[in-house]
Amino acid sequence: MKKNPLFQIFIGILSFIILNNLFITTNAQTKTNKYTIVIHGGAGYISKDIPDSTRKTYLNSLKIALTIGKNILAEGGKSIDAVEQVIRYMEDNPNFNSGKGAVFTAEGKHELDASIMDGKDLSTGAVAGVTTIKHPITLARKVKEKTKYVLLAGPGADQFGKEIGVEIVNNHYFDTPRRLKNWKKRHNKKIDKHGTVGTVAIDMYGNIAAGTSTGGLSDKMHGRVGDSPLINAGTYANNKTCGVSATGIGELFIKNTVAFNISALMEYKGYTLKQAADEMIHKRLKPGSGGIIAVDKDGNYVLSFNTPGMFRGVANSKGLFEVKIWK
Ligand code: GLY
Repeated sequence: MKKNPLFQIFIGILSFIILNNLFITTNAQTKTNKYTIVIHGGAGYISKDIPDSTRKTYLNSLKIALTIGKNILAEGGKSIDAVEQVIRYMEDNPNFNSGKGAVFTAEGKHELDASIMDGKDLSTGAVAGVTTIKHPITLARKVKEKTKYVLLAGPGADQFGKEIGVEIVNNHYFDTPRRLKNWKKRHNKKIDKHGTVGTVAIDMYGNIAAGTSTGGLSDKMHGRVGDSPLINAGTYANNKTCGVSATGIGELFIKNTVAFNISALMEYKGYTLKQAADEMIHKRLKPGSGGIIAVDKDGNYVLSFNTPGMFRGVANSKGLFEVKIWK
């Protein structure tokens, strides 16, 4: 029987629409009205004798950062956007060791590291040792979304930033009087040891994202890379388990694969988020190493550290909004 060509075209279009709708339906994620976000601005020795005005400045900066992320999530935005925008704010805030305010290297310069991960598809982007990128977290996201790679380092990463048009600055832009003063006193190992920033969030669609950005360790050797741009060590996110951002002595977080191990303990051993974080922060790492912030797939959170303090905050859809420094 000879088929009518118009009829065949009609059947073709109809099949395309049905298959397309089926694809959209199977990929759609259920929207809830629940979200959680946690942030950190570094863990370490933070003297309780700091002036009241300094304490208020830090708490206020944490509140602003947390509000940026909370508002994005409360409006139904994506966790990956909340993570990037919170960290961009912290990179602009000279009180934190990331972006403007990053510590000095041994040579008196700044080398910045950052990474971001989307727990929905495990997509990842990171940059290490960049010297001219105003917002390393944004460049890390560009690596994730615009290249087939995971990590770009050194001049190649700076060049990629220039080519794609992210904001470029002179390395001296990152100088701050406070970091310079501390760098000059660099034999005092208690100063400026920590101060990395990070954010983890779960959005209304159940997608978890995590990001971390840092100037690294004060007085570090030229070329030294810490845990922050290393997925699995300083950052990890997986919708099946949790998202994690770490702060502390990077070498220890790399050796202990801290961020991934928290997720792995949950996935392979059935640990709760708290049990997994306790195992890594309080049993595997020695006191004084640092801390992590994390959110699991059910919106539970952990802010765990083995140092005297950690600049931190948490907000969620139940109305929780809290920022703290010490235990
Ligand atoms: N955790 C930051 C660093 O070690 O570079």
